[in-house]
Amino acid sequence: MVRWRTLVGRLAAALVAVTAGSLVVAAPAAAKPGPDVTPYVVGGTLAAQGEFPFMVRLSMGCGGSLYSPRLVLTAAHCVGRTGTNTSITATLGVVDLQSSSRIQVRSNYVYRAPGYNGNGKDWALIRLATPVTTLPTLKIATSTAYDNGTFTVAGWGATREGGAQQRYLRKATVPFVSDSTCNSYYGGQIIASEEICAGYASGGIDTCQGDSGGPMFRRDASNAWIQVGIVSWGNGCARPSYPGVYTQVSTFAPAIASAAASLGG
Ligand code: ARG
Repeated sequence: MVRWRTLVGRLAAALVAVTAGSLVVAAPAAAKPGPDVTPYVVGGTLAAQGEFPFMVRLSMGCGGSLYSPRLVLTAAHCVGRTGTNTSITATLGVVDLQSSSRIQVRSNYVYRAPGYNGNGKDWALIRLATPVTTLPTLKIATSTAYDNGTFTVAGWGATREGGAQQRYLRKATVPFVSDSTCNSYYGGQIIASEEICAGYASGGIDTCQGDSGGPMFRRDASNAWIQVGIVSWGNGCARPSYPGVYTQVSTFAPAIASAAASLGG
């Protein structure tokens, strides 16, 4: 199996323009596909307006999460190198990317994870030119305590492999997959300390192209949403025995926090 992150990142960037990313959700009652056939997938569940207010859509065709009023956490493979960057537009505050009540803010700086080379370390911060103070932020996991259980994923990406980006935000839930199990599926490609997998052995529900950079999150002990992953890569989308691979946020939490501080918080 080939690692898809770089290719996928480029595809996402090329596709950019139009709408945004999304989720692949298979119909449980769908006809069983043949062994060599891509599983039959249909659009995911629509998220309600205000359900995930920290979700961000980025103009290069990726997702993100509002880390602070001025900073969006996304994937390294969604951005270019660290430095001044005024070319990204973030859309926030809406499930409908065409909504007249959307908030749109330009970037002024990109911070890509130091040492990022397309293999692990798939995180980045985008600084917004104007702070967004009307929306809640999404806190990140600072320990491995929540690196288990059932996660929520959301995005405007494709609802099937090769499918179109979506106008309306979609959501799905996916179960944790251990590093050892994930590595057995992916032939040892998973970097256990930097990546966390989620999905069903039977496939059918997954993030997909255009969801990259968006958060994977769950409830913490106080019932607040907490981000445990960043959509990174996978072999196709929602294929059996190929769970989604996410950046393990808890591993990078100290680096993310110090980068955030260096960017002005
Ligand atoms: N890298 C993809 C993107 O740029 C996301 C891929 C997620 N794939 C998956 N099977 N979970 O949008």
